[in-house]
Amino acid sequence: MKPLKTNHHLASIPPAILTKYLDLTTNPEVISLSVGEPDFATPYHIREAAIEAISQGKTFYTPSKGFLSLRKEISSVMERKYDLSYDPATEVLVTIGASEAIEVALITLLNDGDEVIVVSPSYISYEPIITMFGGKIVNIETLESEGFRLTPEALKAKLSAKTRLVILNYPNNPSGAIMNREDLEAIADVLRDTDVHILSDEIYSELTYQGTHVSLASLPGMREKTLVVNGFSKAYAMTGWRLGYVCAPKEIIDALTKYHQYAVLCAPTISQFAGIEALKNGDEDIVHMREEYDMRRRFVVKRLNDMGLSTANPLGAFYVFVNVKSTGMGSVEFCDALLDSKKVALIPGTAFGVSGEGYVRLSYSYSINHIQEALSRIEAFLNELKNA
Ligand SMILES: Cc1ncc(COP(=O)(O)O)c(C=O)c1O
Repeated sequence: MKPLKTNHHLASIPPAILTKYLDLTTNPEVISLSVGEPDFATPYHIREAAIEAISQGKTFYTPSKGFLSLRKEISSVMERKYDLSYDPATEVLVTIGASEAIEVALITLLNDGDEVIVVSPSYISYEPIITMFGGKIVNIETLESEGFRLTPEALKAKLSAKTRLVILNYPNNPSGAIMNREDLEAIADVLRDTDVHILSDEIYSELTYQGTHVSLASLPGMREKTLVVNGFSKAYAMTGWRLGYVCAPKEIIDALTKYHQYAVLCAPTISQFAGIEALKNGDEDIVHMREEYDMRRRFVVKRLNDMGLSTANPLGAFYVFVNVKSTGMGSVEFCDALLDSKKVALIPGTAFGVSGEGYVRLSYSYSINHIQEALSRIEAFLNELKNA
């Protein structure tokens, strides 16, 4: 047999750096702070709604855009929480996680050679999917000294006649950075009079620990050009249900639905029943989980800073992007040495793009006991390095 011939775009995408570190989560010797997944089970009333749907045999395909009742709840949450108004009939598409929303958005909007601005460090899926669909990645490196926020100057410098899309992700994976209203207004001023669209991945919107989340689409002139992506995985601890959504003007949703319909038909039916319950009655669950993450966040940041590692005050999501430059090691070298000597798994910053060198990502979506043990081992590792 000849070697497998794959799509040439796929062949050009390097394997993900983080796979090795994520795979270690099943190794009982290793204590991992690598996975970006809530450690809470999905709240029981949400699970019950799904159980009820199964009991009643509600196991058929749904409309391609998702149940209208779910889209109505999404639209109402957007209005209530983010000051955004979307018509549930035409401006909301329910997807298989935020992941599918991102993929469908990119395949729908990109033509060969279109430039897509990716703010680095960034979530690992954006760049491979852009490459897959013939787009050209244009990175903007954000800095720890600026809290890993995108500045209007940096954005202006990278916009060109070929820019098709800007991908924003605040609260950010992996840095934990957020952008407040003032920060976003400065970005909106740069984009308002351009033909550029914005894919605003707001999957961590509920995990904001200072102030309330502001959606870029809510700023004057931005709704028409923004695709707001969100989902259930992080806010409601529903990663395995694979449910997300995208809100945008009708013309965009129509185009996205065309592909979504051919590719997947619809998002999982049982999960949609659970999603309706989550949006109707899940606010208290969010508050409870957010308080717990916030407690862990403060603990982790203080411990790391006390060890002499800087962290650019993470104010959202459940990650800390830890500066390890003072150890003299690169990201991968640090993670490998820590794993080797103390059996702690973190993710090298370079897994998240060009500006991740010198950093490692630590996820605090683990129990406090687990976090305490991992941090004690990290401290011992640093002390051994100092005394070596
Ligand atoms: C920034 C970001 N966007 C999207 C996703 C995918 O989320 P979902 O589980 O809804 O597909 C993740 C998952 O980690 C993420 O961190």
